[in-house]
Amino acid sequence: MTKILGILSGKSGVGKTTVSMNLGIALGNHGKNVILVDADLERPNLGLYLGVIKPEATLHGALKGEISLGDALYMHRSGLKVILGDISEQDIGNKFKKLKLLISELENKADVVILDTGGFNKELADVIDLAIIVVSPEMPAVADALRAVNVLQTSGVKLLGCIVNKVSQILDVTIENIQTILGVPVIAVIPDDKKMKEAVKLKHPIVYSHPEADSSSVFDALALCLVNDYDDRRRNT
Ligand SMILES: Nc1ncnc2c1ncn2[C@@H]1O[C@H](COP(=O)(O)OP(=O)(O)O)[C@@H](O)[C@H]1O
Ligand SMILES: [Mg+2]
Repeated sequence: MTKILGILSGKSGVGKTTVSMNLGIALGNHGKNVILVDADLERPNLGLYLGVIKPEATLHGALKGEISLGDALYMHRSGLKVILGDISEQDIGNKFKKLKLLISELENKADVVILDTGGFNKELADVIDLAIIVVSPEMPAVADALRAVNVLQTSGVKLLGCIVNKVSQILDVTIENIQTILGVPVIAVIPDDKKMKEAVKLKHPIVYSHPEADSSSVFDALALCLVNDYDDRRRNT
């Protein structure tokens, strides 16, 4: 059964797109069939990170009924399958209802569909089965993440945990405090990685362009953990 995993946050700029694409590749490296969808409907910029400025077929085209979602599937050099958005599109009514319908077309086409989102929206809880919250170690980001956690906890979505991204030597909030404030486990701590800029310049996710980088090792370990957990649960059901 295909699982829909939303990468969410309270605040923008904390690293959702970075996490989505790198975790997607890392899960693929551990044998999972992944489709990554740019579900940041207002500001879809995943394509820019992958060197695709104006994709011909997009999620927005499918949301408007012009193409089928399968037509918008694009394969990155790493082997990651992605569905990109149209940066110039904005005005789509009932978008989350339509998104839910479209995503259901991917059932059985992947083990995991990752949604790189624009943050958090109550209606998104209806589209996803699983969620990961990305937060940076700053109070405003943690406070905004808490609002998303609270809403998720009243929904049927399983919250896998929180990823603390862009962690440097001096922290506004410690990892322990983030875990206490949010009340969810911290499942990965990703360093503020100088090599990330090089990867962005190359238009490749860091796991692909710099597999030896510190942050790449964290993505790899997290993917392995998620895969083992998933396989254990399947064996026990
Ligand atoms: N671990 C990291 N180390 C250094 N820079 C990072 C890291 N994670 C993300 N960034 C940078 O932070 C910026 C915002 O990241 P992005 O993934 O677009 O955030 P979001 O999708 O949440 O808006 C980008 O310039 C990205 O390259
Ligand atoms: Mg983003």
